[in-house]
Amino acid sequence: MLAVESSCDETAVAVVRDGREVLADAIISQIEMHTLYGGVVPEIASRKHLTAISLLADQAIKEAGITRKDIDAVAATCAPGLIGAVLVGVNFAKAAAYALNVPFIPVHHVRGHIAANYITYPELEPPFVALCVSGGNTLIVDVRDYTDMQLIGSTRDDAAGECFDKVARVLGIGYPGGAPMDRLAQGGDDTKYHLPCAHVTDAPMDMSFSGLKTAALNLIHNAEQKGEKLDLPSFAASFAKAISDTLIPRVAYAAQQTGYGKVVAAGGVAANSRIRGDLAKLCEKRGWELYLPALKLCGDNGAMIGCQGYYEYLAGVRGDLTQNGFANMDIGKAFE
Ligand code: KG4
Repeated sequence: MLAVESSCDETAVAVVRDGREVLADAIISQIEMHTLYGGVVPEIASRKHLTAISLLADQAIKEAGITRKDIDAVAATCAPGLIGAVLVGVNFAKAAAYALNVPFIPVHHVRGHIAANYITYPELEPPFVALCVSGGNTLIVDVRDYTDMQLIGSTRDDAAGECFDKVARVLGIGYPGGAPMDRLAQGGDDTKYHLPCAHVTDAPMDMSFSGLKTAALNLIHNAEQKGEKLDLPSFAASFAKAISDTLIPRVAYAAQQTGYGKVVAAGGVAANSRIRGDLAKLCEKRGWELYLPALKLCGDNGAMIGCQGYYEYLAGVRGDLTQNGFANMDIGKAFE
């Protein structure tokens, strides 16, 4: 399966055999360009995908040691994402499937993030509870089967990754900010700064991060105005603690409610050392199995789309030449 990912700022094309064996995983990151603007510029992202995608597909096919004739299906992220960016991948993949006379498989991006775990752990099978944390999404998903999922909790406003990115931008430590914030937090005192964790009344698995983001930004600006120097490692550690303290109890609740005894993390923010450590502590205490994706598969990549695309293919999911891309889509509904 040739698999295409273009929902944000990475253009990626992979070749994956039977869902779990990655033969090639070619990727071109646009981060250098977007760094100039302190965030992703959607128009630039679309144009960069356009110039990269054909070359990348050729590169992936070459790396996999196959020819175009060996491709049995083409999968692509069709939602959610920056719509202009998503459409580049969707149209390239539809054209490739048409030219090769093979099926086209539409894939939900966050289902792809979850599937990155099937590559990391060949023995992993549903059901499980998945915590999906990335730059654009923060969801808790009941993964009943490979293509049967239900959203059981989500952020009501900002995604966790977006908070890391915005706070890092104000601190001037780079874009995307999650990884530099993570490095900065090492050795910091996570009790030094008190940052709020929000609760959504009557929705025990829902989350809200906008108050935390505002509180963190206010703290930085107030310190600046008073001429006080922040203890940056402690600030970053306190911030990571607040994000983790919001996520962990909700994952615990979800795992308990479903009774699966299996927890999976997914998405770019699943690379965060504090969150990985806190999930490990939780699961060890409760006797649950924990699956954390390999660091290189946490962020956007084509392999995860090829993996999920395979299971969608087995479930009979097909897109035709009218298949559209969508900025938003319920992970439970996807492309039935
Ligand atoms: O999954 P991803 O590559 O793109 C989306 O689908 O959104 O996630 C990117 C997000 C960014 O917000 C980035 O700052 C965050 O993942 N991220 C991290 C870490 N590494 C990447 N956040 C916290 N800690 C990290 N170590």
